Amino acid sequence: MKKIIELKQVYKDYPQAGTLQTVLHDINLDVYPGEFVAIVGPSGNGKSTLLNLLTGIDHPSRGKICVNGTALQNLSNEKLTQWRGANVGIVFQFFQLLPALSLLQNTVLPMDFLGLLSKNQRRERAMHLLELVGLADAAERLPSQVSGGQQQRAAIARALANDPPLIVADEPTGNLDAATADSVFDLFAHLRDQGKTLMMVTHNEMLADAASRKLEIRCGRIHTDTSPADTF
Ligand SMILES: Nc1ncnc2c1ncn2[C@@H]1O[C@H](COP(=O)(O)OP(=O)(O)O)[C@@H](O)[C@H]1O
Ligand SMILES: [Mg+2]
Repeated sequence: MKKIIELKQVYKDYPQAGTLQTVLHDINLDVYPGEFVAIVGPSGNGKSTLLNLLTGIDHPSRGKICVNGTALQNLSNEKLTQWRGANVGIVFQFFQLLPALSLLQNTVLPMDFLGLLSKNQRRERAMHLLELVGLADAAERLPSQVSGGQQQRAAIARALANDPPLIVADEPTGNLDAATADSVFDLFAHLRDQGKTLMMVTHNEMLADAASRKLEIRCGRIHTDTSPADTF
């Protein structure tokens, strides 16, 4: 089966206090389409850095990263932005919706960027996605006018806008109370059942247990990996 993510000997250094600190060491990872990978491990150990490399938000210091058939290390920032818009949906801990835009406008935005659909089609699709996440009635509201759980569900609708094969989420329930986290959990379970590939950093045990694979990152290395790719 074709890999959707392939990392080969990936390192990431950051300058810290006048020296280079290696935050990720020799990461080798293969992920296949439809896997739901929970990334766990203590804070400050490189989990977000790993996600940022997968989405091309950040660049590796060394090594190769191939996602959905594209070698990211060869792309300029401009090309990476275009590539990301079509290939990856990103869900952040703090939602990061644009505050001056309604939930509907936030959901339309990634489609504007890609320019594949007409204005009406984009609006229709955004409404459909907001319905899917249970927010049809709140479509015209601003992020500040809805709860944290609703903002996160809108962020998931936005992440799905361009129907990307890969969804990346960094502690998506980290800022939600338990009841609200449950409704967000259901959405991710639904995406898993639809066969999306999910890479998710989470401290939420229920989410981690719903994953097909658990990757533990410690001190910038893959410490354990429950379901090795060679089971495929
Ligand atoms: N932009 C950056 N510049 C310098 N150091 C960074 C940067 N981003 C992350 N780091 C450092 O990299 C390490 C891993 O961070 P991170 O990937 O955010 O960990 P986690 O997500 O596991 O909590 C930490 O020591 C952090 O301080
Ligand atoms: Mg983090």
